[in-house]
Amino acid sequence: QEDPMTRPFPRLPAGFRFGSATAAYQVEGAWDVDGKGPSIWDEFTHRGGTVRHGHTGDVANDFYHRYAEDVATVAAGGVHDHRFSISWPRVVPAGTGEVNAAGLDFYDRVVDALLTAGVQPVPTLYHWDLPLALQEQGGWFARATADAFAEYVAHVVDRLGDRVGTWLTMNETSVHTLYGHGLTDHAPGLGLGVDAMLAGHHQLLAHARAVEVLRAAGPSRVGIVNQHYPVHAASDDPADVEAAAAFAALTVWAFSDPVLAGRYPEGVAEPLADAVAAHGGDLAADLVRIAAPLDVYGVNYYEPTMIEAPRAGKDYRGVLEVDVPEGLPFSPVPYPSAERTDFGWSIAPEGLTRALVELRDRYPTLPPVVVTENGASFHDGPPDAEGRVRDPRRIAFLAAHLHAVEDAVTAGVDVRGYYVWSAVDNFEWAAGYDESFGLVHVDRDTLVRTPKDSWAWLRDVVAAQDA
Ligand code: FCB
Repeated sequence: QEDPMTRPFPRLPAGFRFGSATAAYQVEGAWDVDGKGPSIWDEFTHRGGTVRHGHTGDVANDFYHRYAEDVATVAAGGVHDHRFSISWPRVVPAGTGEVNAAGLDFYDRVVDALLTAGVQPVPTLYHWDLPLALQEQGGWFARATADAFAEYVAHVVDRLGDRVGTWLTMNETSVHTLYGHGLTDHAPGLGLGVDAMLAGHHQLLAHARAVEVLRAAGPSRVGIVNQHYPVHAASDDPADVEAAAAFAALTVWAFSDPVLAGRYPEGVAEPLADAVAAHGGDLAADLVRIAAPLDVYGVNYYEPTMIEAPRAGKDYRGVLEVDVPEGLPFSPVPYPSAERTDFGWSIAPEGLTRALVELRDRYPTLPPVVVTENGASFHDGPPDAEGRVRDPRRIAFLAAHLHAVEDAVTAGVDVRGYYVWSAVDNFEWAAGYDESFGLVHVDRDTLVRTPKDSWAWLRDVVAAQDA
């Protein structure tokens, strides 16, 4: 790990956008306030036994009421952009039909507060919180959910479109599909294995519908966000190499190839075509719409993956934090990094450079890229006697990853921005409040915010760019 005190600050190209990121369910709270409808995450956390310690996002950071303070903190940190997500059930409580004016009013206030503070709002239109009413009608297995999404997006754009320059449609369709529909770790917790891929396709169809609505509404930059990571084979053994390729196809390329190349990887396309047809759709026709050109491609990066072909008799349970169902042709194994975050994730900044270069090499028409999430959970603890939260490991992590972005730029990848996950400590899905990714500490009892050392460090990095 490089020493941030001895390495110069990373230097990014002129015009490079620094940003911070959050998502509605992870920070807003106010889960049933002012007419908001329940989402699948409300149901999932309330079900019990799904999230560590039974934590929920009922209150979260109470961003719904405290947004002005957080916007001020983000702005004082010097970032150019702030990525946040809009909660579909706050705007359209039943998923389709009636609009909740108070929900739109809230996002109107957030957008204005950001703009007044000199920060560009970059909303994500869907960060996993599907209206529960739609889940009860099939959720992402129903084609009609994509129509409902287009309807919701039209309401949002109608209200905010005059002030929002960049829209991101969906966050990590891969993680939502695989963890929430294939496995049971995230909402809606269906555990359907590879049959979940149809839910992913309908999210991409919803993305396509949203792009159509946004284009028709007038000029803006439009993009989608996916998680990307290099997939390494555990050895040169052809069985491991083949397993790694199958894993990459199913978990990475199945979610970016449709958007950036208008196709699905081999092995994914065939079963999907049948499933789409059984739901009244046509895969080829859908792909034409899904591949409509974008202005920006959002890449979330956390760690690389290592894969081996399942070894007979080896027990993979508990090897990683997520148990992959038996019977699949691959097994994730720990990536051999020297250091890990307190969440147990590998620290491997070179994986970010590699992921960006791989994208550029795979897609001749790749739009300009923004790293829309990158960051680390370290258990920094509460403010010390001087009121400081010292988080040197997060600073080292961010410095190393910004240098990795510099390396990708040097290699010719058109990277236009880097957003830290996250602006503020928040609800980390199945891990609840045990994990803290924020540049700002939040006291869970009082909700008092304290900027960490990393917040000031990033502010200095941004200031140094113009120096
Ligand atoms: C990503 C999610 C984001 C956050 C980070 C740590 O997969 O998009 O909401 O939880 O992981």
